[in-house]
Amino acid sequence: MTKKVLKKKKIGVLLGGDSSEREVSLKSGMAVYKALRAKKYNVVAIDAARDLCRLLKKERVDIAFIVLHGGHGENGAVQGLLEVMKIPYTGSGVLASALAMDKEASKKIFLYNGIPVPAFSIIRSDDAMKNKSAIRFPLPWVVKPAAEGSSVGVEIVKDERSFSKALKKALSYGRRVVVEQYIKGKEVQIGILNDKVLGGVEVRPSLEFYNYEAKYTAGLTEYILPPQLSQKTYSKAKKAALSAHRALGCSGATRVDLIIDNKGNPFVLEVNTIPGMTETSLLPKIAQSAGYDFAGLLEEIVGGIVAG
Ligand SMILES: Nc1ncnc2c1ncn2[C@@H]1O[C@H](COP(=O)(O)OP(=O)(O)O)[C@@H](O)[C@H]1O
Ligand SMILES: [Mg+2]
Repeated sequence: MTKKVLKKKKIGVLLGGDSSEREVSLKSGMAVYKALRAKKYNVVAIDAARDLCRLLKKERVDIAFIVLHGGHGENGAVQGLLEVMKIPYTGSGVLASALAMDKEASKKIFLYNGIPVPAFSIIRSDDAMKNKSAIRFPLPWVVKPAAEGSSVGVEIVKDERSFSKALKKALSYGRRVVVEQYIKGKEVQIGILNDKVLGGVEVRPSLEFYNYEAKYTAGLTEYILPPQLSQKTYSKAKKAALSAHRALGCSGATRVDLIIDNKGNPFVLEVNTIPGMTETSLLPKIAQSAGYDFAGLLEEIVGGIVAG
């Protein structure tokens, strides 16, 4: 879609929603709304928490710019609604969204495609206690809900005694939990836009790991652009990230989370199909270093919509 065509369309920025990441989404969504409005697009902000179908019809939205983190907005459900309503939308489709949001499904696809992931084990709520003995890799472990984001419910377990508490916490968010081998090394995130690598950022949290607080409290995490890696290691990381994006069939802008171990081996943690979109979020920062200002990045994302 060219800019000229886009200016004639009404763009609905979908924000908020009813997931645990609602507050973050409101911030991201308002930033997107304001930047598009400043560029004279015909844009409306829509809180997707309830009655989304009715609101989309009422506002006569031609294109949806999805800025919903977690829950229905990121797991393919809202994408499915938009498909049925024949409203073109930004980002990944139904299947890619669903796969990326589900850490069990995405890890299995990464494995099938030879993409490096930390050793992992899946624990289901109905056999939670039985399965501890099935974890066949050494401590520390990272215990996380299979389908959350923003590090919600994620705990690092250093000894077996603290495992059941972490498991219980993760299970309070859903019926499946991923237990992963903890990888010691550098945390790197790679931004991808319309099937090309934009670049990366290294995140250095001052807390135990990049948890919710470290993600959203100013000053708690240091961001290094580009990551301090050798050229060889950086290209391995970029290659793994792009393969992960492609393996899930993602579109638009994604941010791939990785840990690089001390030997320079990348491990993919996950692909975020709706990355944070405030002007200071990581993907916009990465895009900026690749020459896109915030509005330019948004235009590339909308322009990348295949349908419509
Ligand atoms: N296997 C791992 N080894 C080391 N740190 C990890 C591992 N898995 C997760 N983490 C830490 O937890 C954070 C959140 O994990 P992630 O899988 O990205 O879930 P979320 O969807 O909540 O962002 C990561 O950014 C990282 O700091
Ligand atoms: Mg993450």
